[in-house]
Amino acid sequence: MMERELRIKVAVQKTGRLTENSLEMLKRCGLSYSRGTDQLICFGENMPVDVLLVRDDDIPSLLAEGVCELGIVGLNVLLEKAAEGPGLVAPRTLGALDFGHCRLSLAVPRGKSYDGTGSLAGARIATSYPRILTGWLQEQGVEAEIVTLSGAVEIAPRLGRADLICDLVSTGSTLAANELEEVEVVLESHAVLVAGETPADSFRAEWVKRLANRIDGVLRVRESKYIMLHAPRAALEEIRALLPGTEAPTVMPLDGIDDKVAVHAVCRENVFWETLESLKQAGASSVLVLPVEKMLA
Ligand code: PRP
Ligand code: ZN
Repeated sequence: MMERELRIKVAVQKTGRLTENSLEMLKRCGLSYSRGTDQLICFGENMPVDVLLVRDDDIPSLLAEGVCELGIVGLNVLLEKAAEGPGLVAPRTLGALDFGHCRLSLAVPRGKSYDGTGSLAGARIATSYPRILTGWLQEQGVEAEIVTLSGAVEIAPRLGRADLICDLVSTGSTLAANELEEVEVVLESHAVLVAGETPADSFRAEWVKRLANRIDGVLRVRESKYIMLHAPRAALEEIRALLPGTEAPTVMPLDGIDDKVAVHAVCRENVFWETLESLKQAGASSVLVLPVEKMLA
């Protein structure tokens, strides 16, 4: 009989800016799951991995308490929790993810003047990120009053609770809808992969590592392209130098053509039109750029 079911849990934001991309990332890692009736847990069907759908603000604590082994959360949430101080083991950041880009910014009601950080002295700033904001204000050398709110920060000025706000800005539509204007960037943020303490048993420890590696692989693949082209032998060096982020390309002879070779390479960076145009100018022909499906370093 199994003493404890050997599975790992990954914490993901239940509803919000990171939800769709986080679940998509896990699917790309090969995970297929069925969603439980309570909608809070997705049971992995083909791996010993379950997905817990939670409030993003709870993810650092869930990792610190060992409820989950991995999590996907915004750097903003992670830093705010970390600044709460010692007590819980801080989750380890395994790496930046390529989604969830946003800014934690100060915004003032449209029409109100803003004359630089000096003018913040004595102002009331509403935010859900009091610790990050405190640190930033200290760096700026100004003292302001922080009004901590857990949500609906953007309506605080209209309610007369604050003079300005410090909140996340992604597309900017929340600010626009509330007639607020971004005036200072306090923090640039994006999603990160975080881990709690390494599980004691090797089975779960292995799955944490495996999933983290697969996520890393998905990130690499998204940026990578496979490029194939014909190059005049004389221009081979120049063409190789133009291929972005490649190590050693494969160079093959072309049947019946002596002055040209076929070049195949994995480019670890996106290949833009400008690169293709430069390649063509250098003498390359029959250039093909293909997406990479999977990659294992
Ligand atoms: C943030 C922020 C705004 C919104 C800004 O919320 O509080 O409401 O995103 O995005 P926009 O510029 O695209 O309009 P978040 O998704 O972090 O949810 P939460 O604060 O409820 O956790
Ligand atoms: Zn949140």
